Amino acid sequence: MPAMKGPETIQQTKHPADGQLPGASVIWDLPTRLFHWILALAFGTSVYTGYTGGFTQMEIHLASGQLILWLVTFRLIWGFVGHYWSRFSSFLSGPSAIKTYLRHLATGEGSQPAPGHNPLGGLSVIAMLTLLAIQAVTGLFSNDDIMTEGPLAHLISHEASRQLTEVHALCAALLMILVFLHLTAVFWYVFWRRHPLIRSMVTGRQTVSLPVAAPEYRLSWLRLVLALATATLLTYGLINWL
Ligand code: HEM
Ligand code: HEM
Repeated sequence: MPAMKGPETIQQTKHPADGQLPGASVIWDLPTRLFHWILALAFGTSVYTGYTGGFTQMEIHLASGQLILWLVTFRLIWGFVGHYWSRFSSFLSGPSAIKTYLRHLATGEGSQPAPGHNPLGGLSVIAMLTLLAIQAVTGLFSNDDIMTEGPLAHLISHEASRQLTEVHALCAALLMILVFLHLTAVFWYVFWRRHPLIRSMVTGRQTVSLPVAAPEYRLSWLRLVLALATATLLTYGLINWL
């Protein structure tokens, strides 16, 4: 086994030694990949329709926003029951691991591709999911003072709805900054470090040069169906039964 160093070490030391990753392995399971690409489309749609406004656009906005609420709810559940690399426990790191990772990044150490999200990437995933959740939930209570309001706006006072609409607008701006940073980081890895991250998010496969202990990929359809059903029940219940 070759000597392990750099950020790979940080990730590997956390993993249970109950399997070995060979060359090209499935890292991103199908649900995570579908989640990602549908999210990217729905996010673009939500931002475009939110800023352009107009009746049809806002109808689409309410639909794409609620789709994002459902997607994020699913991803939060999948973060506990999904395949190894989709679980939060596989990519959430403490401040010291992030610091070490940043130091290695600056010195160019550990430049071989490591499976899953790196410590900084893991942090940005959590930040994006949290902001997306806040964005979608505040949207439910927002109103544009003209003709469109979120499905739960009638439950609160007009003043409260106005305030949540402001949070909704602010959060949209923060999300766009985060997504910009996300894309910058991804393209930096693709073009500078030559790590084919985008291809991996499409095929699910990553070629990892270091042996890493992790369970082999096997999609559990039962877990997937249960996670989808729970996400549907939670979002439908929130929107329709409150
Ligand atoms: C076409 C534009 C996009 C590209 C090319 C892209 C690419 C990627 C790639 C390559 C990864 C995996 C990163 C890694 O290996 O650690 C990723 C993960 C992620 N991206 Fe994007 N992305 C795009 C748009 C977006 C947008 C618009 C959002 C959010 C609104 C987003 C949110 C995320 C999240 C949450 C993850 C983590 C996936 C997970 O573990 O569930 N991405 N993206
Ligand atoms: C993550 C998903 C979402 C994104 C990215 C998003 C984005 C936006 C943006 C950029 C605006 C325009 C803000 C401005 O005028 O400065 C907006 C407005 C609005 N959104 Fe969303 N939104 C999302 C989810 C939702 C949801 C789930 C609902 C309700 C079901 C909703 C309802 C509204 C309403 C009623 C407005 C009009 C408020 C106004 O005119 O300021 N949004 N949204």
